[in-house]
Amino acid sequence: MPPLTAAETYLRDFHQRQVGVTSAAFAHLPARSASTSYASSYAVLTDLVPVSNMPLTVLDLACGDGHLLGLLAARQQPQLQLLGVDMSQAELAAAHATLPLSVQLQCGRAQALDLPSASVDYLVSHMALMLMDDIEQVVREMRRVLRPGGQFAAIVGRTFLLGEVNDVFMRVFKPIASNALPPLRFGDRRAGSEAGWRELLDGAFAQVAFDDIDVPWTPTPNELWAALTDTYDIDRLDADARQRLRRAFMDAVAHLQTGDGVIVTGWGLRLVRAQPPTCQLQACWQADCSAPHSA
Ligand SMILES: C[S@@+](CC[C@H](N)C(=O)[O-])C[C@H]1O[C@@H](n2cnc3c(N)ncnc32)[C@H](O)[C@@H]1O
Repeated sequence: MPPLTAAETYLRDFHQRQVGVTSAAFAHLPARSASTSYASSYAVLTDLVPVSNMPLTVLDLACGDGHLLGLLAARQQPQLQLLGVDMSQAELAAAHATLPLSVQLQCGRAQALDLPSASVDYLVSHMALMLMDDIEQVVREMRRVLRPGGQFAAIVGRTFLLGEVNDVFMRVFKPIASNALPPLRFGDRRAGSEAGWRELLDGAFAQVAFDDIDVPWTPTPNELWAALTDTYDIDRLDADARQRLRRAFMDAVAHLQTGDGVIVTGWGLRLVRAQPPTCQLQACWQADCSAPHSA
């Protein structure tokens, strides 16, 4: 692997210490779009992969501890070939421990996939693309490995917390972060908006579509704080700043508790979907394409 960027070095270290925190946070919470309910935000992606006897190859890009691959493996679909790539050895070790041996796992960067061109039918990714440096190169690699007629689908961040608690958190977090959080940029800001994704996918992908995915959750303030400590920016605060943030946050959210002592919130996610164009001037993938190729 080439040398990691500063953000990648931090992410690798975080996932070495905190294996499986993403699936611990999301796997047990149902998710919903405006029209559909899902068992979880992972199921938003696995539901897109058809139950079929056709040979299909699915790549989970930045697969972490392999939770999504595990959902697909549990189908026992004989012709389903499952691949996972992640740059964290520790997450991949956890994936190896739970997934069937038939699932191929690779340690590597999404910017340089060690996979043949046009070899993947479904490229899925859960809560990872918005963290990646050089996302343009990642998009080129996604396009390269997808077959004609293949599909790309990713869950990425949309907002942070759902509801009023998001503003409350930002109000207490920003002044502490501005003094105590060492600067470190994660990913490309375009991966945070629909317009940005359209710009990134323009040309390489067609039929770009989005869905807002909400993951409602009603934690106690302590449960919410525990989940927040597993997020990258709070992890990067030193112990003193984290304590100050905890006190300020607990005070600020007290009035948001319902009679049951919980807070109505959740995580605001986005589903991004696209397909490689079936035909294009530079590299037409259809051997028998007869469409007019204008300059
Ligand atoms: C928030 S976790 C999500 C893990 C998994 N997809 C899930 O949802 O359970 C982000 C993952 O992205 C991986 N990652 C980040 N940047 C990467 C890159 N450039 N190439 C490969 N993996 C990367 C990290 O190692 C980490 O496992």
